[in-house]
Amino acid sequence: MGKRQFIVFLTCFAFAGTAYTSAQDVNNGKKIFNEYCRTCHQENGQGLGVVYPPLAKSDYISKTDKQTIIREVVFGKTGKVKVNGKDFNGMMMPLPPKYKDKDIADVITFVFTNFGNKKGKVTEKEVTAAKKKGKIK
Ligand code: HEC
Repeated sequence: MGKRQFIVFLTCFAFAGTAYTSAQDVNNGKKIFNEYCRTCHQENGQGLGVVYPPLAKSDYISKTDKQTIIREVVFGKTGKVKVNGKDFNGMMMPLPPKYKDKDIADVITFVFTNFGNKKGKVTEKEVTAAKKKGKIK
């Protein structure tokens, strides 16, 4: 392998590395899910009755853009929503301000990559950008 090819090879390797969530992020996301989101959405994200919609295999998550979901989790969500064929019309409170953008990225990534969801990762930058747009009217 020539020097040039080797550098290209190394660069690809470095980029591939950043695509993975570190173990620390996964643990932090899970911790926040358990201390905060679980109260309503339940341990395996299955939701509760007609009050709390499921996060597990949520068709709402799969069809809604990431920015919208970030803004709903951060600023709260009210009004009608259909999740996996069931109607909900409740209220999710805004996220307590003690959770920083990195925490928000970690917990949403945890939900997006667990419970049967395949939405992928959310970065701290995406959270910061989504927050700038404010609450969804
Ligand atoms: C106090 C209860 C409560 C907590 C805590 C809570 N939620 Fe929710 N969440 C709700 C309710 C109620 C709705 C439906 C709101 C509506 O009817 O518009 C909802 C809706 C959602 C939705 C969109 C619908 C769906 O099921 O796909 C997502 C995604 C979501 N929550 C993620 C989270 C995440 C992530 C956390 C933790 C950071 C969290 N929620 C914490 C009550 C809660």
